[in-house]
Amino acid sequence: MIQNVGSHLRRGFASVFSSRTSRKSIPRAEDEGAMAEGEGYRNPTEVQMSQLVLPCHTNQRGELSIGQLLKWIDTTACLSAERHAGCPCVTASMDDIYFEHTISVGQVVNVKAKVNRAFNSSMEVGIQVTSEDLCSEKQWSVCKALATFVAHRELSKVKLKQVIPRTEEEKTEHGVAAERRRMRLVYADTIKDLLARCAIQDDLDSKDYSYMVPAEKTRVESVELVLPPHANHQGNTFGGQIMAWMENVATIAASRLCRAHPTLKAIEMFHFRGPSHVGDRLVFKAIVNNAFKHSMEVGVCVEAYRQEAETQRRHINSAFMTFVVLDADDQPRKLPWIQPQPGEGERRYREASARKKIRLDRKYIVSCKQAEVPLSVPWDPSNQVYLSYNNVSSLKMLVAKDNWTLSSEISQVRLYTLEEDKFLSFHLEMVVHVDAAQAFLLLSDLHRRPEWDKHYRSVELVQQVDEDDAIYHVISPVLGGDTKPRDFVILASRRKPCDNGDPYVLAMRSVTLPTHRETQEYQRGEILCSGFCLWREADQLTKVSYYNQATPGLLNYVTTNVAGLSSEFYTTFQACEHFLLDNRNDLAPSLQTL
Ligand code: COA
Ligand code: ADP
Repeated sequence: MIQNVGSHLRRGFASVFSSRTSRKSIPRAEDEGAMAEGEGYRNPTEVQMSQLVLPCHTNQRGELSIGQLLKWIDTTACLSAERHAGCPCVTASMDDIYFEHTISVGQVVNVKAKVNRAFNSSMEVGIQVTSEDLCSEKQWSVCKALATFVAHRELSKVKLKQVIPRTEEEKTEHGVAAERRRMRLVYADTIKDLLARCAIQDDLDSKDYSYMVPAEKTRVESVELVLPPHANHQGNTFGGQIMAWMENVATIAASRLCRAHPTLKAIEMFHFRGPSHVGDRLVFKAIVNNAFKHSMEVGVCVEAYRQEAETQRRHINSAFMTFVVLDADDQPRKLPWIQPQPGEGERRYREASARKKIRLDRKYIVSCKQAEVPLSVPWDPSNQVYLSYNNVSSLKMLVAKDNWTLSSEISQVRLYTLEEDKFLSFHLEMVVHVDAAQAFLLLSDLHRRPEWDKHYRSVELVQQVDEDDAIYHVISPVLGGDTKPRDFVILASRRKPCDNGDPYVLAMRSVTLPTHRETQEYQRGEILCSGFCLWREADQLTKVSYYNQATPGLLNYVTTNVAGLSSEFYTTFQACEHFLLDNRNDLAPSLQTL
């Protein structure tokens, strides 16, 4: 529901919450699981590792080497995956990792891993790394990582059992993991596509050549023989071991540029394309692709071969790492420019600049920190995958909250509210005698929204981004005390359930488009996070929930309606129910593909 805000201030925020707290809160079945956390609940897939950092674990700066840390991360995560799978697992991929702190000798590293969600044969494992100073009792967050492990049985294809999330945090991770997987599986194509489109200007001509290092000087090639200690009991090389070797060559390349001891700040998402085994020779090649003012990108590529067939090399992995050089005050030092080799080197130089921009966009949008991301993010091809992710994940995070409070109930339509981090959110819930897939089709066709929602006067499809994402220009009528109608530019992203128990999701958020700027005719409205989740309760029975996180502009209207039992929310939602019932047998052929 898009609300006209205007002069709707009738009652304050406080009154809403005093009225809701006086009502009896009805606990939901799923809340009971969440309570278990305070009672010493521990996720059954959780695995912990604590390591005292010794001189043998450190790098040239006397800090814990990231390669060693990656081995510990991979081992802990693998043990967690195997605990869930009950069979051997291999590392398939690792998402972006940002290192926030270095770790010194004598400190303790604590690694905690748990399976966020199991799909078919793969699982997402969430890993948290903290460091601890034993003398001062201080603790720091070092990094968070997300790895995908694939379960492997010799003779049969594995179908993993589902993970049942219990706490709010587990529910959030479980919901968002499906979105992350979607993004991961298209990652290589997304990056290729973005690199092809990204018009980064070659700034080489304007650079001071006296301060430039030829990239060729940073080139490293190194070989490793995979021995039994580097592999699991099936002879597969540990992913963490390969990552450690990659970090080693990347550090050498980075040091050759800056002639100092660099610090690894980030590793970009990568995928283990194929396995390697005991007896394989692994060739690691690294070079500095580009140096920016305070950071540089080093690329590493890994190939495997057998002694008897040296020419038949298999490409195992490629990764991109960002290094900085810290001065005595831990501030990043200015770096020399890099002079790439003509041809391949110049291509990688440009692609590294493009990757830097894409990485920043991704970090910013994917974080889903509502307070940090502006209400209407500009839509452009370089961020569309991430905005779609952000759209659905924000809604799933809102859904997973366990402190929703029932504010009112009229004719089995329930209104819940949630006040958190300066945001007021509400959600309406009802059960409708309609098939879930059909309700999803009807609700995700935004053109039909004016049929039941009086806040929608007209809907124009601006861009069909892909099968599941579309941008609409919506105009709402003049309501309340407003003088002008409002208009909205909305990204609508829809998702089918990933497995049993998952809802159908239709998420909506505002974006800005150069073709649809604000005009005199309308007052521009914004939606931070809203949409529908539909749960199949039984055949022809669907729980329909509508969620909305109120933007500051919407707040007054929401507080008025939440507090008033004659709420417009309720009548609109009832109209929605009638719309679904009236059209339950009426599927357009074009929509029947689901
Ligand atoms: N990121 C995350 N998961 C991925 C992925 C990626 N880039 N590519 C594939 N997967 C997942 C698929 O989603 C699928 O999961 P599902 O069964 O839950 O749906 C699973 O991997 C198998 O996919 P499939 O298409 O059948 O196989 P594949 O041919 O793509 O192989 C690996 C995937 C990971 C098994 C294969 O690439 C491999 O063996 N890699 C090396 C693993 C290894 O040995 N690692 C240790 C270091 S070398
Ligand atoms: P791309 O060349 O498109 O970046 P690759 O997978 O071929 O992708 O290589 C990944 C990275 O590994 C490169 O960006 C580069 O930094 C490094 N690399 C690849 N080949 C070599 C090589 N022969 N010598 C040194 N470094 C290399």
